[in-house]
Amino acid sequence: MVEWSDSERKTIVSVWGQINIDEIGPQSLARMLIVYPWTQRYFGTFGNLFNAAAILGNPKVAEHGKTVLGALDKGVKNLDNIKGTYSKLSLLHCEKLNVDPDNFRLLADCLTIVIATKFGSAFNPEVQATWQKFLSVVVSALSSRYF
Ligand code: HEM
Repeated sequence: MVEWSDSERKTIVSVWGQINIDEIGPQSLARMLIVYPWTQRYFGTFGNLFNAAAILGNPKVAEHGKTVLGALDKGVKNLDNIKGTYSKLSLLHCEKLNVDPDNFRLLADCLTIVIATKFGSAFNPEVQATWQKFLSVVVSALSSRYF
């Protein structure tokens, strides 16, 4: 099981508390689709993903970005059972959506970059280290039902 220090718990809750899901969710998902275009293959029903402008203006991308980030709220609130929290979601991405689990890391990295851009110097290396530890545990939990 992952150990969290009091300071790590505080940092994760503090970062999360400053995130506007409706803004950061769409930006993170759009960024993944633009930077790693092969990830678009899973979103065939989302309509126009032709170029960066189309992706950034696509309402389905925006809506789904909010859904994905909304799911992270559960992780922040269940730091001591992240694996269990994402068990069903892992199974869904594996068996139904057939998403290659390598892509979880790509989305997590895009989210970190979006947050870093937004927070500026407040997102210092220590904060980043803790935030990335949190996302790594989420990514690992989302990959857990693939084996
Ligand atoms: C931090 C990582 C991720 C989280 C927390 C997450 C979360 C979610 C959630 C909550 C849903 C909705 C599930 C439902 O309807 O019951 C979903 C659906 C979906 N996810 Fe993920 N996801 C993540 C990463 C990814 C990645 C990396 C991809 C593909 C590259 C992906 C592809 C999809 C697709 C295709 C759907 C169905 C979309 C639709 O047709 O509505 N997800 N995800």
